[in-house]
Amino acid sequence: MTPSPHVEVHLRSGEEGCHWAREQKAVAVVVDALRASATITCILQGGAAEVVVVKEVHEAYAYRDAYPGTLLVGERGGLKVDGFDFGNSPHEIRRADVRGKQVAFTSTTGAQRLVDCLGASAIIVGTTINASAVARQVSAMALAEQVPIVIIPAGLATDPQVVAVEDWLGATVLAAHLGFPIHQASEQPYQQYQGLIQSAGLLEGFFQSAHGQKLVCLGFTDDIRLCAQVDLITDIVPTLTAVVPLPRGGQGVRLQRGTAQHATSL
Ligand code: MLT
Repeated sequence: MTPSPHVEVHLRSGEEGCHWAREQKAVAVVVDALRASATITCILQGGAAEVVVVKEVHEAYAYRDAYPGTLLVGERGGLKVDGFDFGNSPHEIRRADVRGKQVAFTSTTGAQRLVDCLGASAIIVGTTINASAVARQVSAMALAEQVPIVIIPAGLATDPQVVAVEDWLGATVLAAHLGFPIHQASEQPYQQYQGLIQSAGLLEGFFQSAHGQKLVCLGFTDDIRLCAQVDLITDIVPTLTAVVPLPRGGQGVRLQRGTAQHATSL
């Protein structure tokens, strides 16, 4: 594909990135490299019909009450939530049978960012493990719409001061897969994290990050190893296809594999 001079790639983290995606009607790619982006990608690879992402645990319970048979997946404090079927663990999900299931998903940060991007031109879940597939789809969408691409390292919703190195590393891998120029304001972090990938390697970078260390303590090293595998999955791009009104108020976002519709037209 010939790169278009009109499409640029921006790297903007956390809530500010979501805000910018809404304002600019950008194609938003949310990167929660450890582990929400990988878990959602693995759920859809496992054949689930859809993943409805909600911000709050009580919203997930209410969704299952309204739609019995829904599987609940997610975490708080890194651990599976009481009464949920699975934790936010891509390694665990790849061993589970989710074929044909509806899944409701929530997590500390990734889920918040996905819902907070509502209003962007498109909302995509991207990470290292589906980097090439995401790059193909996002490139096509941005070219068709002539809008910028913003890659959003998710950060930590409970502490906006935290720099989530693992998310910046994942975002940098994705940016490198896109055939578009990096916007001037994003060039410095892009080069910085490229340097880290070249010197330490992605796996070591994930392990050394603060969240990586926490996951090691919790016993999730298999997840870190899985999340560091670039292009482990080549055909799944979780894409927002609908805004979902929740049974007791509020809204979630429906993610499915396949051709994207645009959030702004919903
Ligand atoms: C999140 O969304 O906050 C993370 O994916 C947390 C985790 O690793 O479980």
